[in-house]
Amino acid sequence: MRPQDSAIALGDAPLPLDIDALRADTPGADQVIHFNNSGCGLLARPVLDTMVDHLTLEASIGGYEASAARAASVREFYQQLAALINTSPDNIAFAGSSTHAYATALSSIPFEPGDVILTTRDDFISNQIAFLSLRKRFGVRVVHAPDLPGGGVDVAAMAGLMRRHRPRLVAATHVPTNSGLVQPIAEIGRHCRELDLLYIVDACQSVGQLPLDVAEIGADFLAATCRKFLRGPRGSGFLYVSDRVLSGEYEPLFIDMHGARWTAPEQYEPVDTAARFEEWEFPYATVLGCAAATRYARGVGIDAIAARSPALGARLRDGLAAIPGVRVLDRGPQLCAVVTFAIDNWLPQPFKAAMDARRVNSALSFREFAQFDFGDKDVDWALRLSPHYYNTESEVDTVVAAVGELSRFHPAAR
Ligand SMILES: Cc1ncc(COP(=O)(O)O)c(C=O)c1O
Repeated sequence: MRPQDSAIALGDAPLPLDIDALRADTPGADQVIHFNNSGCGLLARPVLDTMVDHLTLEASIGGYEASAARAASVREFYQQLAALINTSPDNIAFAGSSTHAYATALSSIPFEPGDVILTTRDDFISNQIAFLSLRKRFGVRVVHAPDLPGGGVDVAAMAGLMRRHRPRLVAATHVPTNSGLVQPIAEIGRHCRELDLLYIVDACQSVGQLPLDVAEIGADFLAATCRKFLRGPRGSGFLYVSDRVLSGEYEPLFIDMHGARWTAPEQYEPVDTAARFEEWEFPYATVLGCAAATRYARGVGIDAIAARSPALGARLRDGLAAIPGVRVLDRGPQLCAVVTFAIDNWLPQPFKAAMDARRVNSALSFREFAQFDFGDKDVDWALRLSPHYYNTESEVDTVVAAVGELSRFHPAAR
């Protein structure tokens, strides 16, 4: 099948979801019950075809020549993502991962001893480690806003901390890796804009699952991967960089010949666009795959996706919550397609292996991934299940039945 033969009218207005067609367009859909979209979504056929096609072209005419021949399609990467998050292509940078995008953004901030990074109790593990590393090297202070009693950050308390500390950076993760919580990033952003504070958002688990509008969020930076709910290839991500940042003094610590021009032996000038945050070398097949994945998600319709994927998550959560010995761990005013739970009498690896044996893809989360959140919930590990729009209600019910069966049968795993 060629890319244009997809079941989805690519680039068209959102259509009602035809789940059979979407599954026919997803080579892995009939192989496994893929409830690990929080790890990596299943590629849609047009995405796979786009990448294979480019690798074939590289092998036929040469890598540099192939990227030159596909320059317009490469530009589409920026156009598609810009349209997805309501910005301009010049504000998008390609990155090899969400973590790389995030770290490159952090490296552009000239932290000084005593500067405060204000974050939440549910920021991504690698972000938290990066903040601690900045603390070790530059003497910054890391302050965590408290949660509401029912889960999720207390925005009013966070705004109070903004006023008190005037942080050098405010950081929030939209959807954490370790729970189905959706944090109120636009509300946090409104306070940041009011107080003119630099604001970075980790949208790794939300892009492709929930609508994102950087203007509404008020973010200065937004980092994400393409491989999860956007269903792009592994080894890909992007960084949104606001005009406020681009017109300021911010530049990555290790800016390269793509992000800057070497204008004289002792001088360089950063470029004006978010390309400042990229590196010269690109995995072009991957970049084109991301463009195709974003086009595909937009063709399916992000609003339709945002209605269906969290609804499948809710159905799964309800089914699991009814099983004796299972504790659903997701808390907060808004939840999404990421579902986490603890189960009595099982150890983590045997439990995941038992799910694997039933051809259910899942992921483990450990205390180390979520020191605050899992500490508050008093769990050492959880199984994470993350359906997406191309999954079915019947798959959800099969998975609930599998967990129910395992909850009753666990002698070998004790
Ligand atoms: C919330 C969140 N942020 C960031 C990341 C890191 O993404 P990457 O592996 O692309 O660096 C993850 C990965 O699971 C994540 O869940």
